Amino acid sequence: MIRSVFLGSGSALPKRVVTNAALADEIDTSDEWIIERTGIRQRYIAGDDETTSSLAVNASRKALAAAGIGAGSIDLIILATATPDQTFPASATIVQHELGCNGGIAFDVAAVCSGFLYALATADSMLRTGMAKRALVIGSETFSRILDWEDRGTCVLFGDGAGAVVLEAQDVAEDGPGILASRLHADGAHNQLLFVDGGPSTTGTVGKLRMKGREVFRHAVVNLAEVLGEVLEDADISADEVDWIVPHQANKRILDATARKLGISEDRVIVTVDQHANTSAASVPLAFDVAIKDGRIKPGDLVMFEAMGGGFTWGACLARM
Ligand code: UT7
Repeated sequence: MIRSVFLGSGSALPKRVVTNAALADEIDTSDEWIIERTGIRQRYIAGDDETTSSLAVNASRKALAAAGIGAGSIDLIILATATPDQTFPASATIVQHELGCNGGIAFDVAAVCSGFLYALATADSMLRTGMAKRALVIGSETFSRILDWEDRGTCVLFGDGAGAVVLEAQDVAEDGPGILASRLHADGAHNQLLFVDGGPSTTGTVGKLRMKGREVFRHAVVNLAEVLGEVLEDADISADEVDWIVPHQANKRILDATARKLGISEDRVIVTVDQHANTSAASVPLAFDVAIKDGRIKPGDLVMFEAMGGGFTWGACLARM
């Protein structure tokens, strides 16, 4: 059977680290509040010379090197982002040009924090139907550019970064590697609980992020537990068999509550929210790359990816490495 197999991963972070203590010097917050409510200790913030596309290019180069292939054979690039360099063209086309693999398919996906899951499932469908052979799937964000630094309820939560994976369509055995099942959902009834208050067609401005955090939290735990159950059922795999969960990194309390609901122990959940904060579409591939590089995720492991974000959008994907 044809499956989308992971060949390599890479990630990139801006140069500048901003600790909670440094934020507390500027706004009315504290290291204790941020750690207790979110688990975040620091975040990376892009400088003027760092953009969504430049972070994406750095992460992609590392993913290609890890996969041991050149950019020339990539015929599909999907970049998940809510903070593109420009309204158009798609930042994926900038990445494609920088990597020097022009001519294939390249587009952006806008599903905010679930963007990487949406991009992964889309790439998987296109690879399995033969539209492409090798894909770069990227999550890259510069959320610091759309934060209201006067709003302590949101600005302490987010950071910038990028992660990328290379996928290849391969003919594999039933128990072989690759993406086994994916589910995506959206419920636009909640699109005003987490949104940006501007855009080209409304205000003509970029806008700033607005969130009703407590309500988002409540929906996140319920929706994530549900979609994880659906994917396990589709793949006919029990929660016990999953080696690692690579979740969207919004809040340590959401990660703990979701793992508890599934009966999965905390030591099988990859946590990077303490180091990166919430990097939206970049958080899942960033966390994945950390766990690949430190040797926790190994060939043959069953890995569950999951995310929930603005829209609301949410999804999960199970893969064997
Ligand atoms: O990535 C997409 C998905 N996003 C999420 O999943 C985010 C989900 N939501 C959350 O993670 C949490 O709701 C937050 C971390 C955003 C907030 O935690 P909370 O426990 O829900 O706190 P809260 O918003 O109810 O605020 C509690 C208190 C308030 O003070 P009062 O009214 O109780 O006196 C806030 O004013 O904490 C105050 N507060 C702060 N204090 C210090 C809010 N932000 C801060 C801050 N520093 N940065």
